[in-house]
Amino acid sequence: MGHQPLSNSPGFDADFRQHFRDLLVWRRDVRRFRTDKLPDGLLERLLDLACLAPSVGLSQPWRFVRVDDPVRRESVRAEFEHCNAEALAAQSLERAGLYASLKLAGLREAPCHLAVFVDPDPAQGAGLGRRTMPETLAYSAVAAIQTLWLAARAEGIGLGWVSILRPAVMNGLLDVPADWRLVGYLCIGYPAEPDDVPELERAHWEHRRPLSEVLLER
Ligand SMILES: Cc1cc2nc3c(=O)[nH]c(=O)nc-3n(C[C@H](O)[C@H](O)[C@H](O)COP(=O)(O)O)c2cc1C
Repeated sequence: MGHQPLSNSPGFDADFRQHFRDLLVWRRDVRRFRTDKLPDGLLERLLDLACLAPSVGLSQPWRFVRVDDPVRRESVRAEFEHCNAEALAAQSLERAGLYASLKLAGLREAPCHLAVFVDPDPAQGAGLGRRTMPETLAYSAVAAIQTLWLAARAEGIGLGWVSILRPAVMNGLLDVPADWRLVGYLCIGYPAEPDDVPELERAHWEHRRPLSEVLLER
């Protein structure tokens, strides 16, 4: 027996909770995409849902940049290749072979590219809540990305987060204000194959730990 919904607030029943759990389990980082385009207007609809995310002081500091220009996309891919080669060179001898075998971005195949930045000093919100923790602005943008990730998956669409990029270089490549800070570069499209296990776990790079390892009690 859950709480009775108040007036017009929706109730969420056990079926919904099971579906919601499925959504969380099947939300995976996707790097292997089909190349089919997303239907017109779908990205905008998903971004409207992403904007329902919480934000510090209701500042909504996320800034979305849809990248369609093939020349800019190619420069982003080259920037990723550069950073990924450096990351490979920094791997230990034991890990380098496995790292080299990982697919860490779907930049070539994904039909939709979206850069997410944070505005470090938005007028909206009048500074509420971020005096001692200015990083809460970036956390708010992350909350929007997570909301987008779930909303996309609910439509059968996958999202892959690419962070192997130099933020300052990305501001130049995408011609956005110099003080915006890159939070994530997202590849979006239909997954080649949905999965309920993280690809890095399937590739034996890392495995998920039980809650007991991260929950402290005081
Ligand atoms: C902040 C952040 C940055 C990430 N950057 C990358 C990346 O550059 N390349 C990549 O392949 N995956 C990236 N990922 C995805 C993670 O590897 C992935 O979330 C993790 O392995 C767990 O897998 P899952 O998302 O399928 O549960 C990133 C995820 C987060 C949250």
